[in-house]
Amino acid sequence: MQFLKHSFPLLRTPALLIPVLFIMISCQPQTQRLATSTLNINQRVDSVLALMNLEEKIGQLTLYTTDWESTGPTIRAGYVDDIRSGRCGALFNSHTVDFTTQLQKVAVEETRLKIPLLFGYDVIHGYKTIFPIPLGESSSWDLTIMEKTAAIAAAEAAASGLHWTFAPMVDIARDPRWGRVMEGAGEDTWLGSRIAEARVKGFQGKGIGNTDAVLSCIKHYAAYGAPVAGRDYNTVDMSERAFREYYLPPYAAGIAAGAATVMTSFNDLDGVPATGSKWLMTDILRGELNFQGFVVTDYTAINEMTNHRVVADDKAAGELALQAGVDMDMQGAVFQRFLAQSLKEGKVSLQMIDQAVKRILRMKFELGLFDDPYKFSNAAREKATVFSAANRAVAREAVRGSIVLLKNKGNVLPLSKTQGKIALIGPLADSKADMLGAWSGSGDAKDCITLFEGMKNVIGASRVSYSQGCKVNGEDRSGFDAAIKLASGSDVVVLAIGEEAVMSGEAAARADISIPGVQEELLQKLLATGKPVVVVLMNGRPLAIPGVDSTANAIIEAWYGGTEAGNGIADVLFGDYNPSGKLTMSFPYSTGQIPVYYNEKSTGRPFNPESKWTSKYIDNPNAPLYPFGYGLSYTQFSISDPRVSKTSFSNRDTISVTVKLTNTGKRAGAEVVQLYIQDKVSEVTRPVKELKGFEKVMLEPGESKDIVLKLDKNHFSFFKRDMSYGTEPGEFLIMVGPNSRDLKTTTVKLID
Ligand code: GLC
Repeated sequence: MQFLKHSFPLLRTPALLIPVLFIMISCQPQTQRLATSTLNINQRVDSVLALMNLEEKIGQLTLYTTDWESTGPTIRAGYVDDIRSGRCGALFNSHTVDFTTQLQKVAVEETRLKIPLLFGYDVIHGYKTIFPIPLGESSSWDLTIMEKTAAIAAAEAAASGLHWTFAPMVDIARDPRWGRVMEGAGEDTWLGSRIAEARVKGFQGKGIGNTDAVLSCIKHYAAYGAPVAGRDYNTVDMSERAFREYYLPPYAAGIAAGAATVMTSFNDLDGVPATGSKWLMTDILRGELNFQGFVVTDYTAINEMTNHRVVADDKAAGELALQAGVDMDMQGAVFQRFLAQSLKEGKVSLQMIDQAVKRILRMKFELGLFDDPYKFSNAAREKATVFSAANRAVAREAVRGSIVLLKNKGNVLPLSKTQGKIALIGPLADSKADMLGAWSGSGDAKDCITLFEGMKNVIGASRVSYSQGCKVNGEDRSGFDAAIKLASGSDVVVLAIGEEAVMSGEAAARADISIPGVQEELLQKLLATGKPVVVVLMNGRPLAIPGVDSTANAIIEAWYGGTEAGNGIADVLFGDYNPSGKLTMSFPYSTGQIPVYYNEKSTGRPFNPESKWTSKYIDNPNAPLYPFGYGLSYTQFSISDPRVSKTSFSNRDTISVTVKLTNTGKRAGAEVVQLYIQDKVSEVTRPVKELKGFEKVMLEPGESKDIVLKLDKNHFSFFKRDMSYGTEPGEFLIMVGPNSRDLKTTTVKLID
């Protein structure tokens, strides 16, 4: 545009520039000419908007899946025609350089305005190199590795023609019956917020437009993780206080970290479907959180507001969604079918439509797609980046860190690398298909290392033999005898049991979270041989396993580790890695105990074993089998009493809490020192404890280190009775320890 400025000096006035540009551009065949403009991004967006007719505008608000994969109830035929006619501005479930190039060519060569497409995909825990499921990764409490794996996932996705991932899922969840707990970061708000930040930073890297970064998508906004009874898509009903204290912060943290997009959730919240909630999509998201990106719905979530029965038909649903602040309709074809009519009837305004179009165009400009629509479709980069050995090495590191040692009676672990015969038994010991877990993107099961393969990679084939024993589901015990025979002839048994990967994820709630089938029966048969049994759990949610806990010699929680699952688990079993994971969701004793979470309230009759009249079960402990933050090590650690820099402080102060951590064992290892607070007296009821800080530290045997954690007024603030947010004077317990149960305490006083 330089020539414009020299030839028409008045054009230094941007306001004049646009109409002239409009004339210039409209004579030109390509909106890509804007790419050479020195206009700022808003002016460039306005220039394109000025060229668009209504159908083209509505097309930009329309997202369709291809028929490459199905992640929801409908698939539309003819999405290529939709692109060609300008009725679709974005696609998902379309990846690889080859496929995205084909589709992009249709948009930039066969449409009137040549506006480039946006390509999205569920890159949740890896694109081709698959990392542990997010609930597993969160158990590492290692924000660095979680950012790193998101960055690798982004680089692989961006090298495969993708611009946008529908991740991170940051829904807080306290109910393991819900299948999508596997996709998040567990039950805690503070940790979940830190992990949301790490994952957004990983996905968006050095910034949108870099060819190793993708748009992130904070989902599912909001409170999708709290469906009644843990049943997916079910009603969510909670107080505004509970929502703002426990469920909103991770969405807010992801947005504050720069998340480019937000996805609405299927559920209603306090009687209003999220997708039609102006309170959520505009008042909070735009008003309070100052979100600048665009909002996409979940899969046909607009249409489904007719099922919620808050609207009579799809057309009214589209009007409600646009009025609420939704920008893009995923797969519902509601905007595409009805928005023009709604505009004609005055049910929506052109300003609303234009605002949504501009948010989406802006993102396409920021990605650089107007400059080069094929920027992310580079075959050489795809070949060099996707599924590289370096990426798989990080995957193995992530598996190691995600593993939680739940029991190790008599130090049966780690196993010897040189001595003894090992019987590897169980339906998940050699199952490639289950290692990926749900939401495994473009991952390929054939690429996965099973536990059997991982163990052979360490000790060779001669010392480990495999027998399936039984399947995950069903009553077939015909494999028991062979398994028992193998165990009897071995020195130690490793039993890999749990859930099939398809038993968690979307639309996969379980009404009973015990280990399915006859797997526990097999465990007891194997224990009856007198051989020590190491249970390796592979599952997508906390399981109720009191029978395993009370009988097995050792238990490790391995989740679904992804591509490098078997290698990472073997590294822990044979001691090449000392397990350091800590649970981010409580494990109940039984399904009936759900929901059980560490940051519960006191109640007016807190449990007291000495009294009948207290809050308890008569058939189940109140406490979970394994608490939030729990995990053992092959070494031992001591944590000193906490020391505080000030025992009395103002909310303008920052105080330090210091403990001395010592590795008192014989092996190097990492401990996660966790800091919790309790507001002793407050004007509303508050949790018995809340996580407000942690540090993961690696120490050599005998080594000590002072761990210093900082607290300021934000750590002590809460929503008061009038819903104002802030501190109130009073005493607080400061509690520090290796999990949410075994804590050392001191008291401090906040004076204002
Ligand atoms: C699904 C999921 C959502 C996903 C979307 C696209 O229904 O709820 O998390 O991103 O559809 O696959």
